[in-house]
Amino acid sequence: MKRILYVTSEAVPFIKTGGLADVAGSLPKCFNKEEFDVRVILPKYMCMSEEWKSKMNYVTHFYMDLAWRSQYVGVLEMQYDGVQFYFIDNEYYFSGAKPYGNIYQDIEKFAFFSKAALSALPLIGFRPDIVHCHDWQTGLIPVLLKDKFHEGEFFRDMKSIITIHNLKFQGVWDVKTVRDITGLPAYYFTPDKLEAYGDANYLKGGIVYADAITTVSNTYAEEIKMPFYGEGLDGLMRARSNSLRGIVNGIDYDEYNPETDTMLEYNYNVRNFRKEKIKNKRALQRELGLAQNDSTFMVGIVSRLTDQKGFDLIAHMMDEICQNDIQLVVLGTGEERYENMFRHFAWKYQGKVSANIFYSEALSHKIYGSCDAFLMPSLFEPCGLSQLMSLRYGTVPIVRETGGLKDTVIPYNEYESTGTGFSFANYNAHEMYNTMQYAMHIYYNKKREWNKLIDRGMAMDFSWNSSADKYAELYNWL
Ligand code: ADP
Ligand code: GLC
Repeated sequence: MKRILYVTSEAVPFIKTGGLADVAGSLPKCFNKEEFDVRVILPKYMCMSEEWKSKMNYVTHFYMDLAWRSQYVGVLEMQYDGVQFYFIDNEYYFSGAKPYGNIYQDIEKFAFFSKAALSALPLIGFRPDIVHCHDWQTGLIPVLLKDKFHEGEFFRDMKSIITIHNLKFQGVWDVKTVRDITGLPAYYFTPDKLEAYGDANYLKGGIVYADAITTVSNTYAEEIKMPFYGEGLDGLMRARSNSLRGIVNGIDYDEYNPETDTMLEYNYNVRNFRKEKIKNKRALQRELGLAQNDSTFMVGIVSRLTDQKGFDLIAHMMDEICQNDIQLVVLGTGEERYENMFRHFAWKYQGKVSANIFYSEALSHKIYGSCDAFLMPSLFEPCGLSQLMSLRYGTVPIVRETGGLKDTVIPYNEYESTGTGFSFANYNAHEMYNTMQYAMHIYYNKKREWNKLIDRGMAMDFSWNSSADKYAELYNWL
């Protein structure tokens, strides 16, 4: 039996700001219980819903040194869906309205969390063979395992993996402050270790010290070795390329299932979507105040509103896009300029554009379960889960060929009648728009072809099955 500990800053159903939560919450239950004991540890944020907080059980507490500070560490636990979850409690660090706030606060928050997660293990009596870390928030863990923790019997030979969900966020702050927070000696703050471009860099520490590195698609694993996608660490990615592999994400096929989804008004499957899915479209048009029209091409967007997702291309083409017989349903929060851009176009094109600038699990499911197409023209995309959800719900993805989007959406080929979506190569607004127009042409003029695209998309398997096997292989190999 191999014991694995996932250390993560978010996990569904407890707390979610993006795809990391989906992965950290749904992958652990997909391993063979005879072979692997996979547990998850995350912060207990004050902003988690009462529903979850009230179900957590107190395990223990202790005081931990963080350089010159002595901090309270509470440990709570809960079983969910057959998986053991642990929560680190500290009201000073985890009381914000959101999991992440100012970077200078987050730097100390996640130094605390990383050390606390390791320090709690002897007390809860779980000794993992492998600590599986996720993103910069847990980048210090591989460093700590090689440093102080190495001295005791308990942590000796414990292996670590770091999975990069997004190389753009690295946890960067000045060396002096990070030394003061972590208490790590000067030895670590050189360009071959934690330092990058004069500052301390948590993710870099994780990448340098982890025994294995993964990222969430094959294409992204290749892209980050190049300057355009490497976010300043492409040299390091090349240097560590023997330890780096891409494993594409899956989604929870029980949670995301149009046949059983309770958030949809009308359930459907690959056999009856032609008749049934349209009923959800009608309901959504009514709910959002869009023009009631069965045939109008309805395009969905569910996303963090950041430049990563290609909103500059969309902003540039919005007026042209809206000249077509089209409806655009947006759900997302993020950068103000994009929030306001969509608010503006919803005002300008009433009945055509619906801007929902908030977070809603229910509305996201309705969008996947109602729209004809899903737009995701990302500048970069480590994996992307929204396009997988769209495929599962018979909503045809229109994507840029980058990262996981390239690996999961097969471009439509009208001569061979193959493919599951539409894609374009260059980060160029007109290329995106031409691709949208091509999709619209197929939708309006070749309906049988369009429906076959949906058939093929819904028949794809992006459950965790095969990717969980790849992680299992990696765990066994380590
Ligand atoms: P990223 O992790 O970069 O944000 P992914 O495509 O991997 O992108 O995952 C995004 C996840 O967050 C999906 O599950 C998507 O449905 C969800 N999501 C994003 N924005 C919202 C929102 N405003 N309301 C509900 N769900 C959202
Ligand atoms: C990150 C990436 C996204 C990926 C998700 C889960 O948020 O931006 O592409 O799907 O992590 O791995």
